[in-house]
Amino acid sequence: MRPVARIIAHVLATTAVVACGGKTVDIPDEGAGTPTPNPTTTTTTSPTTTSVPPTPTFPPTPPVPTTPPTCTTAPRVLRGDGCTDLVYHACGTPAGVDASDGLDSKECSLVCNTGTAKPNQYWGCSAYLLDDQPGPSFNCYTCIEGRRPEGYVEPIVDATVAGWLAHAADLERVSIDAFQILQRELTFHGAPKAVVAEAARAEADEIRHARMMGNLAVREGASLAPVAVVHRAPRALLEIALENAVEGCIRETYGAVVAGYQAEHASRVDVRKLMTSIYRDETAHAELAWSVHEWLMGKLSRDERAQVELAMHEAIAELAASAAVPVPWEQQDRLGLPASDDARKLVRGLRVHLFMRELAA
Ligand SMILES: [Fe+2]
Ligand SMILES: [Fe+2]
Repeated sequence: MRPVARIIAHVLATTAVVACGGKTVDIPDEGAGTPTPNPTTTTTTSPTTTSVPPTPTFPPTPPVPTTPPTCTTAPRVLRGDGCTDLVYHACGTPAGVDASDGLDSKECSLVCNTGTAKPNQYWGCSAYLLDDQPGPSFNCYTCIEGRRPEGYVEPIVDATVAGWLAHAADLERVSIDAFQILQRELTFHGAPKAVVAEAARAEADEIRHARMMGNLAVREGASLAPVAVVHRAPRALLEIALENAVEGCIRETYGAVVAGYQAEHASRVDVRKLMTSIYRDETAHAELAWSVHEWLMGKLSRDERAQVELAMHEAIAELAASAAVPVPWEQQDRLGLPASDDARKLVRGLRVHLFMRELAA
């Protein structure tokens, strides 16, 4: 069993820098946006003639268009999951976007909000290079770390302090549903009573978080527009394990790290105070997620366990990519959110300590 609370505290204290692989790149723009040669301008040259000179009786040649045809292939979502849509721009990087120094909210709006499934629901993005596509692609993010239940509909996120608080309040609210569903499913599958009781405690924590975060968001001028989460019949163990691995073991664990960071760095006293409380509770939720993980893994087949492990590694790779997204200065300062350099260190530290058992033991 991983000493999760100790790992979270250690990552926060040291933000250890260890090199790791990743697929996100700074500038996948080589050759992208280069105008396609205009086939109409490469008109055939006159064939070499040696006998008959051209006559002046042909009608005038139609004028050649002076404007080359523009690329009209619309951006499209190559793949998407709960937190990230990968948007491919076949026509190259849009005008006004420079990925070499990261992508700000205006640039993300240009690359994420065109021809995509969830316009105006992305809070950040990063460039991404695909092996099998020549043009640039972009990861467009919809989630802030935390545990989201199945079927959660991401709200429209405003890139302001009030917008962040409103989104955080919404995630706290749906975490209540997530723990209600988890309790029901764990009970259905015969999980230990102590684990179910811990999930009930987590639900109570989330009720408190949702109220406090919601109050803070409303005081900041945000309006909350909650959408109800549908509770379905208990799912199979593999489905529960996949969700718990991604939403609990990875996202809630990282959520605890970020909450701890905010508790230290926010310039606003009310935010520091709230995040201190949330950090403590989210650390307990992360420990619960890993307890549930251990129990579930003991119930799964070898192939199913491999699927769960893979999902966790993909989730932390996604966190690593999202950590590269620039955070507006106002959010860094007032909310204490880590800038991308620190966020990357936090994710790296978490990755090392969660998955290198010899260090975590
Ligand atoms: Fe929470
Ligand atoms: Fe939580």
